[in-house]
Amino acid sequence: MKKLTIEELKKIREKAQTEIQARSPEGKDRIVVHMGTCGIAAGARETLLAILDEIEKRNLQNVIVTQAGCIGLCEYEPIISVQKVGTPKVLYKYVTPEKARRIIAQHVINGQIVTEDVLSTE
Ligand code: FES
Repeated sequence: MKKLTIEELKKIREKAQTEIQARSPEGKDRIVVHMGTCGIAAGARETLLAILDEIEKRNLQNVIVTQAGCIGLCEYEPIISVQKVGTPKVLYKYVTPEKARRIIAQHVINGQIVTEDVLSTE
């Protein structure tokens, strides 16, 4: 077996780190859809499907989508949060599938918060 040089080992390590980074949630924009009972009753499932569809259509590789439970704010459901890397988390209220698509285009892609739909920012 051929012995590896320090340079070759460094290259292998860098390549592995890049691949791990690409797979891990670190360094990715994050969308969380709150799927508590009231969220689902208010249409969170359709919102989630619209988000996943938009991400696939636009081939957004740097975005991960997860689900979470309720946060005690029934009256504002469906609620999603968007956190772009290095920016505060933004909670959006009454997120219909149409609003979700707009939030992706305006906030996730262009970095502009959709102010009229904001519930809070952290
Ligand atoms: S079920 Fe509505 S806030 Fe928890």
